[in-house]
Parts: sequence; structure tokens; C-alpha cells
Amino acid sequence: MMSISNKSFAAIAAMFSLLLLSSMQCHAQLSSTFYDRTCPNALNTIRKSVRQAVSRERRMAASLIRLHFHDCFVQGCDASILLDETPTIVSEKTALPNLGSARGYGIIEDAKRELEKTCPGIVSCADVLAVAARDASALVGGPSWTVKLGRRDSTTATIAALFSLLLLSSMQCHAQLSSTFYDRTCPTALNTIRTSVRQAVSRERRMAASLIRLHFHDCFVQGCDASLLLDETPTIVSEKTALPNLGSARGYGIIEDAKRELEKTCPGIVSCADILAVAARDASTLVGGPSWTVKLGRRDSTTASHTLAETDLPGPFDPLDRLISGFANKGLSTRDMVALSGAHSIGQAQCFLFRDRIYSNGTDIDTGFASTRRRQCPQEDQNGNLAPLDLVTPNQLDNNYFKNLRQRKGLLQSDQVLMSGGSTDDIVLEYSNSPRAFASDFAAAMIRMGDISPLTGQNGIIRTVCGAIN
Ligand code: HEM
Repeated sequence: MMSISNKSFAAIAAMFSLLLLSSMQCHAQLSSTFYDRTCPNALNTIRKSVRQAVSRERRMAASLIRLHFHDCFVQGCDASILLDETPTIVSEKTALPNLGSARGYGIIEDAKRELEKTCPGIVSCADVLAVAARDASALVGGPSWTVKLGRRDSTTATIAALFSLLLLSSMQCHAQLSSTFYDRTCPTALNTIRTSVRQAVSRERRMAASLIRLHFHDCFVQGCDASLLLDETPTIVSEKTALPNLGSARGYGIIEDAKRELEKTCPGIVSCADILAVAARDASTLVGGPSWTVKLGRRDSTTASHTLAETDLPGPFDPLDRLISGFANKGLSTRDMVALSGAHSIGQAQCFLFRDRIYSNGTDIDTGFASTRRRQCPQEDQNGNLAPLDLVTPNQLDNNYFKNLRQRKGLLQSDQVLMSGGSTDDIVLEYSNSPRAFASDFAAAMIRMGDISPLTGQNGIIRTVCGAIN
């Protein structure tokens, strides 16, 4: 009996050691002497770059330690964090936890440049990061340790992994949103909103565009909390007067109408932030766009941010990388950004916002299109003259917007930049060829946009009127 038991124990132990071999191997390959023969001066070279950087600016020690951390937590310690944006790589540098925050990339590049002079192609960037973190620690009085070496560099980056780390906390809020939120407390809520929106859009078709844009301008500033709707008071600097909204955002009255109706049947129940989200969906369906199930349960803010409205909303002259990072900052992907830009398949823009483009004589604009637009938008004056964002089907939410971009007939510079030889060309081509792909991506992206930092639970309030705090 005893001997059988010993035998099985030995067999199990052998199996475990075999199983563990493969995973152990990658660890086993790291060794502190890895470059001893191939690049004996590697550690000195890195230490020198780090020492110089930290003596120039002491904070750099902190930044370098953090770089190693942010590298290792995403795909492992493989220097994926250092890869810049390309058509095939969505850089981790623009992910929320890094953008405008992670620093010290240049120091790593400096060290790498020095290493390439003496030992070309030998020392990985992932190892440079690991050694730099240790050296940084030692330079500011922290402990030192022997760094294991032999990492190799990735050929990919993963922006999504970083988001998943960061979004953990906000995900908790998302979980609280639910499409059945008012089913018991205000079963007529969705019908009431739809009636208001339908009346408004049948009065003026453009209102569908304006309502979709209101939800967007709400969600990008402090999250979807109806902060956009608050009027100016001694304690509130309204977002309505911020540059992207002033004389431009419209449809506030329709949201107030819906709210007034809701207060009659379900006082104090339905938030203005939810009305905005539902109105955007209803507006889309009323002008031929996709429909989707709106998650509900957002609450309204007691504050607004005029400042954030001027910094966080994208501008019509933004270059592509800025548009991408602006959406990434809100947890939205490049693909979401392109799909959502398809909202410019409806609605109108003012002359002064596309004047430079139509008089640019640039190669990225169709000449016939430019001259047509110049007729209603002279070089001076008439700033407020309107032109449709989609010249083919201006009142229909469809994929014609993307077809226009292929013909260099995007109205805004920020429209055309999506189809200008950059990383988003392929997405534009896909949507221009497939109305279905556009419709389903647009709906999914609108849902994700509606998920941006909602106030839920005990946070925020339910406003009685949308323009003021109760
Ligand atoms: C990608 C970055 C974006 C930029 C730079 C941008 C910029 C603009 C500008 C400058 C206008 C014209 C405003 C005026 O003339 O007063 C406009 C209109 C509009 N935008 Fe955007 N936008 C962007 C994304 C979006 C998104 C994500 C949505 C919605 C999901 C959206 C929906 C609309 C709609 C529907 C209109 C027409 C509004 C109306 O006719 O009242 N835009 N946008």
C-alpha cells in the first residue's frame, strides 16, 4: 500500500515538474548576467543616461519607475508601452492612464541610442526600462537590486488592457445602469420622451441632429450627467456659454419640454441625463438611423464645468491624433470615434467653422464641392450661414457621410482628416461600403458614450427642471 502511494506521489510530482517546466522556462531565461558577454557595458550605459536625467530633474526618477510599472502591467514587461501610434498599432501612450501623464520615454530612447552605438541590436527596450527603474530608485535613496535581464520587445501594444485596469472603478457605475430602471417607478417614461422628440423632429427635422449632439456634448464633459443643461447662476458657470456650445448647441427646450411632461406623471423620478440619452436614441431612429436599448439610471449633477467644455470637446480643426486621444481620454476607441463622427451624416455647420477649408485650395477637398460651399460662405462675414454636414442626404442618418469623405467632400476639416491617408482610412472605407457595419457600430458606440462616468446611487440628484439645481 505504502509503496503504491509513494509511487503515485512520485508520478504526480513528476507531472507537476513537467507541467511547470514550460512556464518556468520564460522566467529561467532571465538572468542578471544575460549581457555579460554580448554587451558588457550595457548596465553602465543605462545608468549614465538615467543619472544625467535625474540630475537634470529629480522627478524623472519617479517617472522612470512608473514607466516600468505601466509596461509590465500591460502584456508583461515587453516595452509595449514605448511603441508609437501607427496604422497597425494603437499606442498605449494614448491610453487614459498614460496620456499626458506617463513621461520619461525620451530618457529610455537616449539610453537605447547610446547602447546601439556600442552593441547594436543586443539590448532590449524592456530591459532598459527594468534597469532604469532600479537605477532611478537607487539615485533617489531607494533600495537597489540585481535586475534580471533577457526580456525581448513586443511587436504589439494593447490599449485595451490599460483601459480595463483603469475602468475597473467606473465599471462599477456602469453596472448600475439598466434598461429597466424606470419600469416600476415611471413605466411611461420612454413613451413620454419619445412623444416630445417626435413632435420636435416633425416640426424641424434638424432637431434630430441637435439632440444627438446635446447628448455627446453632455457626456464628454464630466460624464453623462446633464451638466450641459445647467444655466448660469452666481455659483454655476454654465457650459452653454463655452465655445463649442455658444450659438451652436441647440435643443435645450425640447429636453425641458420632455422633463415638464415627466414631472406631471412621475415627479422627481427621471433624470435629465437619462432624457438626453433617450432623446438621442429616439432622434436617431426618427431620421432613419439605428436604434438601440438605452441603459438608464443616470443622475444629474449639481455642478457644471465651463472649463472642461472648452478642453474636452473636440474641435473642427483638430488633427487626427488629437481626435483619437480626445476620445481615448473618454474610454472610446478610434473605431468608436469614426463611427460616432457618422452623426455628421445629419445636421448643419456654420460657415466660420469650415471657411478655411473651402478656401484652402488644398488637395484634400474636391474643387467643385469647395466652390459650391463658397457661394453661401463668403470669405468675410456671414459667419453663421449654414451648410449641411452631409451634402447628399442631409436629413438621413446613413453612411453617405463616409462616401462623401472618400470623394474629399467632408465639410469640416475634422471630418476629412478621417480619410486622409491616416490610420482611420480603412474604417471609413468599411463604413462607406457597409451601411450595416456603420449602423451597428454607431449604435454600440452611442451606448459606450452613454456609459461615460454616470452619477448613480447616492451621487447627484434628480433635477426638477433641467436648467437648474433643485
Ligand atoms: C470627432 C470630433 C467632432 C468634432 C470636431 C465635431 C465638431 C462639430 C462642429 C464644429 C459642428 C458644427 C457646429 C456649428 O456649426 O455650430 C458639429 C455639428 C454636429 N455634430 Fe459634431 N463633432 C465631432 C463629433 C461628433 C459626435 C461624436 C457627435 C454625436 C455622436 C456629433 C454630432 C454632431 C451633430 C449631429 C451636428 C449637427 C448639429 C446641428 O445641426 O444642430 N459630432 N460638430
